[in-house]
Formats: sequence, C-alpha cells, structure tokens
Amino acid sequence: MLVAGKHYRTVWLEDHVVNMINQPLIPHRFEIHRCASYKETAYAISSMIVRGAGAIGATAGYAMAQAAYEAPADNFTSAIEQAVSVIRNTRPTAQNLFYAVDRVYNVIREAVKNDRTLDEIREEAAAEAGAIADEDAFSCSTIGKLGSGLINDGCRILTHCNAGWLAFVDWGSALSPVYNAKREGKRVFVWVDETRPRCQGARLTSWELKQEEIPFALIADNASGFFMRRREVDMVITGSDRIARNGDVANKIGTYEKAVLAKENNIPFYVAAPGSTIDWECASGDHIPIEERSEEEVTGITGRDADGVIRSVSIAPGDITARNPAFDVTPAAYITAIITENGICRPDELEKLRRTEDRAGKRGESTPNVY
Ligand code: MRU
Repeated sequence: MLVAGKHYRTVWLEDHVVNMINQPLIPHRFEIHRCASYKETAYAISSMIVRGAGAIGATAGYAMAQAAYEAPADNFTSAIEQAVSVIRNTRPTAQNLFYAVDRVYNVIREAVKNDRTLDEIREEAAAEAGAIADEDAFSCSTIGKLGSGLINDGCRILTHCNAGWLAFVDWGSALSPVYNAKREGKRVFVWVDETRPRCQGARLTSWELKQEEIPFALIADNASGFFMRRREVDMVITGSDRIARNGDVANKIGTYEKAVLAKENNIPFYVAAPGSTIDWECASGDHIPIEERSEEEVTGITGRDADGVIRSVSIAPGDITARNPAFDVTPAAYITAIITENGICRPDELEKLRRTEDRAGKRGESTPNVY
C-alpha cells in the first residue's frame, strides 16, 4: 500500500520487533506501533491496534517467531507452549490467526524433534512467519486480479467493514478487486458502510479509498437497503474472518443483513478471502466461535473533536445493558461466489478449491480457476 507515496505493509518484523500500522489512530494520525516481545504483540492483537483477519494472522505468526527468540534454552518447549496459548487467546473468530500460530508451532516442533540448534529453530520460526506474511500479500494480490474480472466499467460496489490493505499484509481481500479494476482503467464507485460499533468502514475503508483516489460515499449502516432498492448498488463484496467447509461465512457484524437484502434485490453478493481463512475442520457456520466485545463500544463512540483531540464520548444513558457481537454468520445460500487466490467458486463448491490448493502443494503457487 502507498501512504503519502511510500510503500508500507500493515505489519512486518525487523530485528525481532513487530512493527504495525497503529489502526485505532487512523484516519486522524498515521503512526507505526512497535512490539518488542511476543506478549506485547499479543496485546496489540487483543486491543485491536492491529486488526483484520489476514493482518492478525501475520502478526500472530510473528509473535510466535518472537516467542521462539525469547524462550530460554532450558525451558524452551514449555515456554513455546505457553506462548501458543497466549496468542491463540487474543481473538477467537479469525481463522487466519489459528492458521498462522499452528504453522509456526509445527515448524518449531519439527525442528526440535530433528535436534536443530536453538539458533536454527529460531531462524526457521522467523522464516515461516515471514512466509505466512508474504503468502498473505501474494494471495490478496491474486484475489484482486481474479476478482476484478467480476467488475464491469461503471460498477457501484457496496462493502462492509474494512477488508482492504489494513486488514491484511497488503492489498486486502474485498477491496483488492476494486483496486485492480481501477488500475485496469475501469470506473468504479464504492458504497462504504460505516460499520458500527468500531466504525472500520468510516475510519479505515474511507481512508484507504481516499489514498487510492477511488470515488466513494460513506453511508450509515442502515442505509444500504435504501440504495439497493433504488438499483444504485450493482454488487456487494465483503471479506471474511472464517469460512466453514459448507460455505457459510463469518464476517463483521451486519454482513448477514447485507446479504439478505442483496438476495431480496437480486444483487450479487461476493465474499473475498485467502485460503487461510477457510476452516476445513469446521462443518458449518453454527460452529464458528463469535467474539462478543465490550458494552462500551456500543454505548460510546470515539472520534476527533474540533480541536483535533481524539476523544471517546457516551451516546447512551448510563447503567444500561448493551450487547456487542463482533461478527455474524451469513449462510452459504446468500452468497453468489467466494473469491480466493485459488479461484472463484460457488460456496457449495468450496471443496474444489481445496483440491486446487492440495495439487499446488503450497498455497500461492496454483493456477487460479473460475468454477
Ligand atoms: O476489525 P476486526 O478485526 O474486528 O474485523 C475483522 C475484519 O476485518 C472484518 O470482519 C473484515 O470484513 C474481514 S476481512 C479481514
């Protein structure tokens, strides 16, 4: 991603320090947050300094590499096991996080089993974490190239939450096809749902689209049906945090409503996600763990006041009950197709993508198909 003309990834590892774009400050300030230990990195995930499925996956992989670096020789295995538990417990829904922790953990276990030296184990862990981040960026770039084939000149696309650069290592999932379409010379327009309660659409997607000079309009979460019914939305593209084997999709709270409205109005509804978001062990959306966050996110809001100070204010009476599920599940029946780096397919044909992935041996090296 280019920020003021300079290329950034959302997260990267340098000298055992995890660097990340500090997302709660955007769009008001652009700062890099640095985490010197795996526990600091885990905290950055749970406190959402870094957020978005692919970005927290890559960050979790780097946290594992830091844990390998920090673990003492005389207590290495149990220190690593403790780190696995701390990092896995940061956020429950995004499959990418578990995918990354397991990959680095498996590399460490294999290296220990093969009597590698401590230095070698640490190097292998860091290399695996780096590979996960690189694959995330590559997958998202491929999703963009494939997905832009679905976008016609003049297309008006509605998106929910932020599934752009900031949600991944680079490019994004739902927004990558839009960025590619623009680079191919197509005229595109994006409807941006504000995405209460944390306003990832208003804060992050709007900021990214501005950087990319793509025309868009920010709308209140409850306005999308209005524009769909007036035939001002040509397609919906969202990201996903976890996709079950049957094609059910967990994504930011409010996605399900958009999918139902899209079907009602005969508007295609696409989900874009890398293979690392698919949980092949999960039979259906009913089994996806849904994070519930604090009541304060619903009863309050954070923004910048006229003096340029970032403040949180209350928007509801005190002493009330609020509920705050962070994700919902959209049943496969509402989804026109899923766009991954391995191809575009109907949700009920997801298994075909798995076979493409298996044939490729390693993710990111396959020839994409459109099923
Ligand atoms: O901001 P988060 O981490 O709570 O939300 C996760 C997401 O980024 C969205 O659900 C997004 O649409 C999925 S694609 C990364």
